[in-house]
Amino acid sequence: MSHEYLEALAKRYVNEALINEKAGNYLDAAKLYRKAAEILRVIVSHRPGDPLAPTYRELARSYERKAKQLEEGAKVKLPSGGHESEDLEKLIEDIVVRERRDVRFEDIIGLDEAKQAIMDSIVYPTKRPDLFPLGWPRGILLYGPPGCGKTMLGAAVAREIDGVFMYISAANIMSKWLGEAERKVAAIFKYARKVSEEQGKPVIVFIDECEDLLGVYEQEIGGEARVRNQFLKEMDGLLDKGKKYFVYVLAATNKPWKLDVGFLRRFQRRIYVPPPDREARRALFEHYARGLRLSNDVDFEALAEKTEGYSASDIRDVVMEAHLRTVRELFQKGDIYGDPRPITMRDFEEVIARRKPSISPQLLRLYNEWRERFGT
Ligand SMILES: Nc1ncnc2c1ncn2[C@@H]1O[C@H](COP(=O)(O)OP(=O)(O)OP(=O)(O)O)[C@@H](O)[C@H]1O
Ligand SMILES: [Mg+2]
Repeated sequence: MSHEYLEALAKRYVNEALINEKAGNYLDAAKLYRKAAEILRVIVSHRPGDPLAPTYRELARSYERKAKQLEEGAKVKLPSGGHESEDLEKLIEDIVVRERRDVRFEDIIGLDEAKQAIMDSIVYPTKRPDLFPLGWPRGILLYGPPGCGKTMLGAAVAREIDGVFMYISAANIMSKWLGEAERKVAAIFKYARKVSEEQGKPVIVFIDECEDLLGVYEQEIGGEARVRNQFLKEMDGLLDKGKKYFVYVLAATNKPWKLDVGFLRRFQRRIYVPPPDREARRALFEHYARGLRLSNDVDFEALAEKTEGYSASDIRDVVMEAHLRTVRELFQKGDIYGDPRPITMRDFEEVIARRKPSISPQLLRLYNEWRERFGT
């Protein structure tokens, strides 16, 4: 098997890992980095004398390190505390990811309604505010089952508007230090207003897993939700000064029922991000299998049929796992210079049989019930 092929394979995983990392899916990203490292390690173990072996080994180590960092980072970050002396920018840097996102709307399969809703409520108003004399929503909530594209949609918005995108994972704001999380929330909004004013550009504050903001700490007297209150205050501040600032708050959650009425009142626009229907599942299989060698018997239509309840991210994992099977097999046979056999329908079916869908009918019912009461 050629270096090129294997490198390409590992690269594929690394690319997926990068997309997930940028979108804030740290655990997914970690998993993908580990797979890339696994492939490199397998190559090295079969070709220890290869001149490229040290490079692969070094790369594998770096991906494993990266995965570990991401796994740790995904847990609640506990800063050292006592930040009085630290300035705003520094505080923000810890929480926000500001780099340009690589996710495009075209990379997001299906979700046409959700995409259109985002166009209507964010993209058009930022491009032509003059066409919206009555104003537009500043708080937009994306809700729906895990792994179906909320974080991806948030990331893609950044490319569509010529604006500044601030990615914030609510879990990262939370801190065990009394008062620290509120200070972070205040700092984020202050920063967003400052950027919007100075650069005259729209700023999107994307708050992922926003239900975490409503968490109440044990040490809080009377269980007052201090972070939540700070957050709501900041949201109201944006509305008061709505003419002056172009700051949007886009929040995502897969547990909308955890949000309270006060929170919801600030998020008038609520966009459901549903699980993929059959057509979308077929498109997802095609999308994630593009460029892979497939046997003639692979029938995406039939796979879509069999994967009711699978999230988009489940389907991505199924394709990658089916592919990895053919690669593992090759190495197990010791035929390390050959090409992996094409992926067959059976590979897909076996992977699917061993993997439960992550969206159960009961879970779906919860979303539908919530949607009927609170969706817009
Ligand atoms: N609609 C989609 N089209 C293509 N890929 C998708 C789609 N939805 C999800 N994925 C894949 O699954 C990964 C996870 O998706 P994403 O983080 O956007 O889901 P989410 O709705 O934010 O989930 P959670 O509620 O768990 O945060 C994406 O990085 C992407 O690889
Ligand atoms: Mg997400």
